Amino acid sequence: MRLKLILVVLPIAALLAVTAGFAYVQWSKGGAGTGLYSRDWAPDPVQGYWDPDNFYHSPDSVVGVFEAELCIQCHQGITPGIVADWSTSRHAQTSEPVYCNDCHGSDHQQLRLPTPDVCGSCHKKQHGEFKDEARYGFPSHVLAMERAVDAPHFADKPKAEVQSCVQCHSVATKCDSCHTRHRFNTAEARRPEACITCHSGPPHPDDESYFGSAHGKLYLAEGKTWDWSKPLAKGNYKAPTCAYCHMDGGRHQVAHKSMWKFGLREINPQTSKNQVLRQRWIELCNDCHQEKEAEQWLAEMDQERKQVWGKLYEAEAILKDLRSNNLIQPEAEDRPPYPMGSLWPRERIGFFEGQASAFYNVSAIERDYFEMWYFDNLGSYKSAAHGNMHGVEKGHKKMSASLERIKTYAGELRAASEADSNSKKGVGVAEFWSRGAYTDYNREHN
Ligand code: HEC
Ligand code: HEC
Ligand code: HEC
Ligand code: HEC
Ligand code: HEC
Ligand code: HEC
Ligand code: HEC
Ligand code: HEC
Repeated sequence: MRLKLILVVLPIAALLAVTAGFAYVQWSKGGAGTGLYSRDWAPDPVQGYWDPDNFYHSPDSVVGVFEAELCIQCHQGITPGIVADWSTSRHAQTSEPVYCNDCHGSDHQQLRLPTPDVCGSCHKKQHGEFKDEARYGFPSHVLAMERAVDAPHFADKPKAEVQSCVQCHSVATKCDSCHTRHRFNTAEARRPEACITCHSGPPHPDDESYFGSAHGKLYLAEGKTWDWSKPLAKGNYKAPTCAYCHMDGGRHQVAHKSMWKFGLREINPQTSKNQVLRQRWIELCNDCHQEKEAEQWLAEMDQERKQVWGKLYEAEAILKDLRSNNLIQPEAEDRPPYPMGSLWPRERIGFFEGQASAFYNVSAIERDYFEMWYFDNLGSYKSAAHGNMHGVEKGHKKMSASLERIKTYAGELRAASEADSNSKKGVGVAEFWSRGAYTDYNREHN
């Protein structure tokens, strides 16, 4: 009887829970913004240019439905640069030109800004590859916009700051990130400059790490003389660029070879799945290097990762211990809830929780840890991945210095706490407060 009850009640409860969860997710997406926190933010009008499907509204100042020739004629006066770029592009110079209205529509009160689906109506191969990248999960270009707006700090931070997120992460919502409008030039997209508008800055210093590598130096020295009209294939380039390595063969995916991803987590490079990814890299390096050499270079990167995680785990253990003894200030209940509006504030410590530390007033020891994990770890990873040994050394030096500071500071916090509890018992305080930097120095020098 009881078993029967359980058999009936449990599935019903599970069904209700799933339905409620689903309803909650649907509800949370029903606000003015997009993503999980759409109810907590509303877009500025400019966001329409970065995420047209969700936010673009055509101006209604010009009335009429126009033929292609009229678009060009009028825009010759209004936006001559755009018309000039379009005129020299392949879109204008094929036998059946792709006109302004093929991308933007003909009714000027219902213009559209072309999303990947619009380009995809003619470029099925690139669009198909681009969409298919979703199966590799995060990080990837196709999922980049969701990733940004679903980050809790996106909803929390001031609007002026988070516009930058949308600009870089719009690589998912339009196709003009690498071959820019209105020339849509593949030669431009093959160069590293096409990537580094977004792939730069402390958590992803891809520019620094590449330009400091043997490959990047060759590019800087000789790139001017290379014929950029050639596709990214074996024999066409002396040294590889970002796109040569990450979009080899013109494949519109960047996630199909990577195993360390962003460098945010420790992974096991030896699983059979990861060995398949590694083999893809080695075949690519093989365009110019011996297989054995490439294998060894990439193994160096795995070694570098192993060392980093040793340091990060050590720091994390110290912080967790301090937290469990209530030694980290401010304590959980004194912090701003994260994300905005959440019911249970908590101290954010750890490889993932840690990211938020950049954006709030947290203690110095957490800030040290954050920089160690998010800037120096990730910087060192990119240096190892891109063969820039100086960057690896710099990252490791900074991490070691942070770890030392964390240890010292943890010692001080523990000592202060011990003194505090002793003072409550009325013993030992004098010993603690009579020592320390000022007092010792004065005693020795006065
Ligand atoms: C009679 C002149 C005229 C003609 C013809 C014309 N445009 Fe425009 N277009 C304008 C003006 C003026 C603006 C700026 C409108 C504003 O900012 O309110 C504009 C803006 C645009 C924009 C930018 C919208 C935005 O939100 O930034 C696009 C895209 C555009 N036109 C495409 C076209 C296309 C496609 C055609 C042909 C179907 C066309 N135009 C025909 C005058 C014209
Ligand atoms: C192959 C597709 C394509 C064609 C053809 C095309 N555009 Fe565009 N256009 C775009 C894209 C992509 C954007 C950027 C949309 C965004 O910001 O989300 C854009 C943006 C614009 C804008 C907004 C201003 C800006 O920020 O650059 C104007 C104005 C414009 N186009 C006018 C034109 C005119 C005029 C023509 C014809 C001479 C034309 N476009 C042809 C794809 C196209
Ligand atoms: C109406 C069909 C159509 C649409 C829509 C379209 N294209 Fe094209 N595109 C073409 C044609 C046709 C060519 C020329 C192909 C050729 O000459 O082999 C071309 C060429 C290109 C090239 C190659 C240029 C070069 O330098 O070799 C790129 C890049 C490109 N398109 C990107 C885009 C993007 C991005 C969009 C959306 C913003 C877009 N296209 C929308 C038809 C289209
Ligand atoms: C300068 C361009 C740029 C800006 C600005 C930017 N991002 Fe990113 N973001 C990137 C790049 C590039 C990566 C991928 C790094 C990698 O794989 O090395 C990334 C990665 C991420 C990731 C982790 C990726 C994953 O899937 O695991 C998140 C989350 C993220 N960004 C959110 C944000 C938010 C939120 C903001 C604004 C506060 C922001 N980004 C601002 C370029 C940018
Ligand atoms: C408009 C900004 C932008 C441009 C331009 C851009 N990217 Fe990205 N890229 C991103 C963002 C944002 C992410 C992180 C996406 C996420 O959060 O999941 C990313 C992620 C990546 C990743 C990580 C994939 C993984 O599996 O770890 C690689 C590799 C990459 N991009 C390579 C390139 C290359 C190569 C170029 C130039 C040919 C380029 N990107 C141009 C914004 C950009
Ligand atoms: C991360 C950078 C990047 C993004 C984003 C990107 N492309 Fe490209 N695209 C490239 C590169 C690099 C090439 C040159 C590939 C080669 O040399 O084989 C290229 C080439 C092309 C070509 C010309 C292919 C040929 O054989 O001539 C088309 C068409 C194209 N892209 C369409 C698109 C469309 C559609 C989208 C959006 C779904 C898109 N691209 C987004 C980097 C990008
Ligand atoms: C010689 C080939 C090569 C060149 C050139 C190169 N990369 Fe990489 N990149 C790699 C390798 C190898 C990794 C490590 C991938 C892994 O996890 O296995 C990597 C990692 C990355 C990642 C982290 C995500 C991932 O795939 O693990 C990003 C983002 C990235 N590179 C962007 C760039 C950018 C932007 C440039 C140009 C400024 C560039 N790369 C130049 C080979 C290259
Ligand atoms: C398109 C050709 C090309 C590809 C592809 C390529 N490299 Fe290179 N690589 C070069 C050239 C050229 C040099 C400079 C050789 C020299 O210094 O004499 C070089 C130098 C290097 C160096 C420095 C070697 C030294 O002696 O200091 C490393 C490390 C390296 N490559 C690793 C890789 C890895 C790993 C890959 C694959 C992810 C790769 N390369 C893909 C052309 C390439």
